[in-house]
Amino acid sequence: MDRRIDGSRVVLGVCGGIAAYKIAGLTSTLVQHGATVDVIMTAEAERFVGALTFSSLTARPVYTSLWDAPERIPHIRLVREAQVILVAPATANTIAKLAHGIADDLLTTALLAARIPVIVAPAMNSAMYEHPATVENLALLRARGYEIVEPERGFLAERESGIGRLAPEERLFEALANALARGETFRGERVTITAGPTREAFDPIRFVSNASTGATGIALAREAALRGAEVTLLLGPTHLEPPAGVRTLRFTTAEQLYDLALAHAVGSDVVIATAAVADWRPHERSETKLKKSDDDLHVRMVRNPDVLAALGERKGATFLVGFAAETDDHEAHAREKLARKHLDAIVVNDVRDERGFGPGENTLALLWPGDGRRELGTAGKTMLAARLLDAITELRRTR
Ligand code: CTP
Repeated sequence: MDRRIDGSRVVLGVCGGIAAYKIAGLTSTLVQHGATVDVIMTAEAERFVGALTFSSLTARPVYTSLWDAPERIPHIRLVREAQVILVAPATANTIAKLAHGIADDLLTTALLAARIPVIVAPAMNSAMYEHPATVENLALLRARGYEIVEPERGFLAERESGIGRLAPEERLFEALANALARGETFRGERVTITAGPTREAFDPIRFVSNASTGATGIALAREAALRGAEVTLLLGPTHLEPPAGVRTLRFTTAEQLYDLALAHAVGSDVVIATAAVADWRPHERSETKLKKSDDDLHVRMVRNPDVLAALGERKGATFLVGFAAETDDHEAHAREKLARKHLDAIVVNDVRDERGFGPGENTLALLWPGDGRRELGTAGKTMLAARLLDAITELRRTR
């Protein structure tokens, strides 16, 4: 009995591919390991395997349509009760629908409503798998945090050899077991994340700000929620959407963030400060738009409070993680902040040439006292968020 699987609730989404029959074997294995499995089949999947195969293995109804009587909308309940969904085999068509938010059958509707980890295991002809449309759709899903279990090379249904064979049962099982284990790492814990820039106005329409978009903090909030945390996101001015299922409180200025942090972050189990807080604010803010004259404008700037340092002074049992935005002498500056702000760990973020801001890839390393260091590598922000939370989980265990 695998501990990670025993007692879990799993949804399997089976699409119409020849490999659909292999999911019967996986279903049986999961049931033997103590999982409660609900199977959703697309109409095409039913052409390859009978629903009776799955209902016999799971001893539960199999869902094939949005309109299965007597329950009219099973999709919301199914994904609410489950801890993880595996789509296997995932056809090019279902992958495309997922990537573009199309919900025209029970499986795609359930997936659109899902706030739990989604694993996608593609299986198809090599030409379809390598088509730019499929490649881009899978990249979109990855960027949104879906895990893709890559297909393998081998003999395909078309009697030719190539990439596109569904990953073997052991890999699907491991992906599910790991997602379930990860989903428990922050269960019942309070995690507070600060994210985004601040804006410090000197008249009604002009302000001092920076290039932060909050993307890293939003990715961390989403990932922590997927791992079971009760997440509070303190989010500055950004056009990016906060994740669903996360309590989000908005700020504009550093002083507002300071007040929110003291009210909501103190006493959290974990705090991650990704916000790019302005160190200074204009001394005065004109009530009316400043009119230009031939003179230069002098705006006197005064110091803002250091939010993270204030949290460091009230640390208690909180595991406190900062970000260090650096353009030079990265490690030395980051280690100085680690000590000065009483942090448990700090992430070094290279921000030369506005690197590290907005969408796209970033390169991060995590440092902790006693010369501790772990490279988080170069990757998209979703992937980096997952790696950072893995590293924090390990560090907290060793304390
Ligand atoms: N931070 C904060 N409040 C501030 C300034 C920074 O909470 N007023 C936090 C950031 O969210 C980050 C960490 O402190 O987690 C380090 O921020 P950074 O801008 O790299 O460093 P500063 O402390 O501002 O130092 P410097 O500007 O000298 O690099």
